Amino acid sequence: MIAVPGSAGTRRARLAALGYYVPEHRLTNSDLEKLVDTTDDWIVSRTGIRERRIAAPDEATSDLAIKAAEDVLANAGRSAQDIDVLIVPTCTPDHLFPSVAALTADAIGARGAAAFDIQAACSGFIYGLAQAVALVESGLATSVLVVGAELFSRIVNPGDRSTFILFGDAAAGALVVADDDGGPSGFFGFELGADGSKGDQLQIPVGGTRHPASLAFDQADAYLQMNGREVFKFATRVMEESVLRLLERLEMTVDDIDLMVPHQANQRIIDHAIGRLGIPPERVFGNLEHYGNTSAASIPLALAEARDAGVLTSGMRVMMVGFGAGLTWAASLVRYEPT
Ligand code: UT7
Repeated sequence: MIAVPGSAGTRRARLAALGYYVPEHRLTNSDLEKLVDTTDDWIVSRTGIRERRIAAPDEATSDLAIKAAEDVLANAGRSAQDIDVLIVPTCTPDHLFPSVAALTADAIGARGAAAFDIQAACSGFIYGLAQAVALVESGLATSVLVVGAELFSRIVNPGDRSTFILFGDAAAGALVVADDDGGPSGFFGFELGADGSKGDQLQIPVGGTRHPASLAFDQADAYLQMNGREVFKFATRVMEESVLRLLERLEMTVDDIDLMVPHQANQRIIDHAIGRLGIPPERVFGNLEHYGNTSAASIPLALAEARDAGVLTSGMRVMMVGFGAGLTWAASLVRYEPT
């Protein structure tokens, strides 16, 4: 794209469309009982997950991102040539480089678009939206596609039952566009953060520059490793705190939230957070039981399914909140304004 700062005028950003793609293959808890030492009862009671989608052996992350990007564009009634920037939040890219975004932009025909990945793990979609809003409202772009795409089934250790059961594969995203109607931004605000001192609580030790995959390594270090209890404690704290900090900054209360769409990681984490915040369960949407934790795809996947179910409708104020590796967290309040 070619951008000229200072030409923004009265433009504001608007969340114009949602879309998603999930692989066909379902891996149920009873399937998992045959693979690892676990039970449906343990998984459902500790996490709320009943099944997850698993990509085909020949599918990589960009294959999921391409289909999700096309779905967002179809729902927006726009063509790939309209896209100025394609951002792919992912921590499971096809390769260290090229980026999933560059591969996806090429495949969908977004030839004039800038394209890059961002890595904030499960918080990535909200981080990506913040970038999209900044690009649009500064006048650097008029149309930004953000597609969270993850393929965690390739990075979980089949020998680690505490993580193997949690994750699924999916891609989902949103289109952020410019409006020149002079109204207030469709995005009320963001609360983003990171605490790298807890980086080792959720990590893949091998494959980067700290330990290149070209050197000898223990197979277990090439897989996701997590201190589940520590991440659980962190998650319950930041889900509540980040929403409260954002509401305070916006001089709003939980009554101003029409719908809450939290990161779909664990039902107990969600229940704890909404209980502390005092948000009634009927104002919270989730689909964790069908997909497990799909990381950067989880919030847009839930948003898109909430729309399909008629739960998310035009004009609603939606609070999104997530947490993930880094450790990172993110919250945002947005008005849903479909084209
Ligand atoms: O997007 C960010 C991603 N991360 C998260 O959201 C993870 C946050 N953490 C969690 O969701 C939970 O910590 C887990 C679901 C991972 C684990 O639940 P927990 O209640 O914290 O269990 P635990 O780790 O304290 O383990 C309790 C027991 C252990 O057995 P012992 O030592 O008490 O005999 C585990 O070995 O449960 C055992 N266990 C399992 N049992 C059956 C762990 N995984 C399994 C399993 N099936 N899949």
